[in-house]
Amino acid sequence: MELLKTMLHRRSVRQYAPGKVDKEKLDMILKAGLSSASGRAIRPWELIVIEDPETLKKLTGAREPQQNMLAEAGAAIAVIADPEKSSTWVEDCSIVMANMHLMADHLGLGSCWIQCRMRMAHNGETTNDFVRGLLGYPDNMQIEAILSIGNLSGHPEPYREEELLTEKVHYETY
Ligand SMILES: Cc1cc2nc3c(=O)[nH]c(=O)nc-3n(C[C@H](O)[C@H](O)[C@H](O)COP(=O)(O)O)c2cc1C
Repeated sequence: MELLKTMLHRRSVRQYAPGKVDKEKLDMILKAGLSSASGRAIRPWELIVIEDPETLKKLTGAREPQQNMLAEAGAAIAVIADPEKSSTWVEDCSIVMANMHLMADHLGLGSCWIQCRMRMAHNGETTNDFVRGLLGYPDNMQIEAILSIGNLSGHPEPYREEELLTEKVHYETY
C-alpha cells in the first residue's frame, strides 16, 4: 500500500524553488533509474546528469515550445541509449525515466518528463542533434527524454484512488 500511496502522490512539477538538488537525493534518483528492468537485461541506456545552470538554461531550447522549467531546475538527467544495442531501447529508457520521476516525488522533489525523441528544437534542429551539441554524446547514441528536477515550490493535488480510470481495465475479453 505504501508504494501505491507514493504512486498516487506523483505528479509532474514544472516550477521549482531555487537551489541545487541535494546530492544524496540525486544519487537515490539515479539508483532508481539504474535498477530498472530492461529487455533481455541489456540496459542499453546511459544517464547524463546536468547541474550547471548555464547548460540547464541552454537546454530549454531543446524543444519547440521551449521547456522553461529547465532554467529553474536544480538538475536534469538526460536518458540516452544506443538503439543498435536493443530493439526495446525506447521501452527501456522509458522505464528509467518513470522510475526516476517516481523516486523524485517520493523524496519530496518536483520533476517533469521532457520528451526528446522525435521532437524538434527551437532552432530547427532535431532535439537529438541540439542536445548532442550541448552534452557531447556520440553519434550512435540517441536521446529518449530529459527529467528536469527541482526543489518544490508547490505540488499539484495528488491523485485519489477513487479517481483512477478503472473503466479502462478489461477482464478476460475487451
Ligand atoms: C512520454 C511522456 C512525455 C512527456 N513529455 C512532456 C514534455 O515534453 N513536456 C512536459 O512539460 N511534460 C511532459 N510530460 C508530462 C505529462 O504532460 C504529464 O505526465 C501529464 O500531463 C499528466 O500529469 P501528471 O504527470 O501530473 O499526472 C510527458 C509525460 C510522458 C509520460
